[in-house]
Amino acid sequence: MGNQVLVTDELHEYMVAHGMPLDEIARELVEETHKLGGVSVMLTTADQAALLTTLTRLIAARRAVEIGTFTGFSALAISRGLPDDGELICLDVSDEWTSIGRRYWERAGVADKIDLRIGDAHESAAKLEGEFDLAFVDAEKPGYIDYFEQLVPRIRTNGLLLFDNTLAGGRVVGQHEQDPVDRKEFNAHIARDERVDVVILGIGDGLTLVRKR
Ligand SMILES: C[S@@+](CC[C@H](N)C(=O)[O-])C[C@H]1O[C@@H](n2cnc3c(N)ncnc32)[C@H](O)[C@@H]1O
Repeated sequence: MGNQVLVTDELHEYMVAHGMPLDEIARELVEETHKLGGVSVMLTTADQAALLTTLTRLIAARRAVEIGTFTGFSALAISRGLPDDGELICLDVSDEWTSIGRRYWERAGVADKIDLRIGDAHESAAKLEGEFDLAFVDAEKPGYIDYFEQLVPRIRTNGLLLFDNTLAGGRVVGQHEQDPVDRKEFNAHIARDERVDVVILGIGDGLTLVRKR
């Protein structure tokens, strides 16, 4: 396509530096996560983190839920966008990875806003109560349709659901050895849902913005 920008690592650094650069706490969290090795590819990107903070503020979110917390980088970004009496419920199955996040949330002064619930997120999501302004989903991809169906009724009108990795590195189109069937099914599933408006952004690995009508 004509004017589409290819975001190289260098350009990504430039974008973050000229937008919302990482502070020392976020930078050290990212550095510690990289020391975990290959799993660090799961980290939310820095431009996405800036977007998460900004969207949280834009919609004046007070109650948010995150599915897929890992070492707490995206949770740090969302919680920083919440007011002092805001609440972020984080669902993840790993005590080990999220305990890294807890230390940084403490340092950043956002730990009091975060309620971390360890366990399978499909079960934890079924136990959620009340209404939410914002949801960020970044856990196992075959689970996305179930997470969407559980979360849509819980989000307020004009609230926002965000789903990460929805373009699967661009493999949702064309022929590929590893066909991202889960992402294709998810994208098709929500595109025809009349309860929501859907916009897929080409940021990171693809981030879908879903507005509840
Ligand atoms: C891509 S990482 C999340 C990255 C994170 N948002 C960040 O800011 O770096 C995916 C996370 O989903 C969690 N996860 C995967 N399947 C899950 C499930 N069924 N229930 C709960 N958590 C799950 C993993 O433990 C992992 O921490």
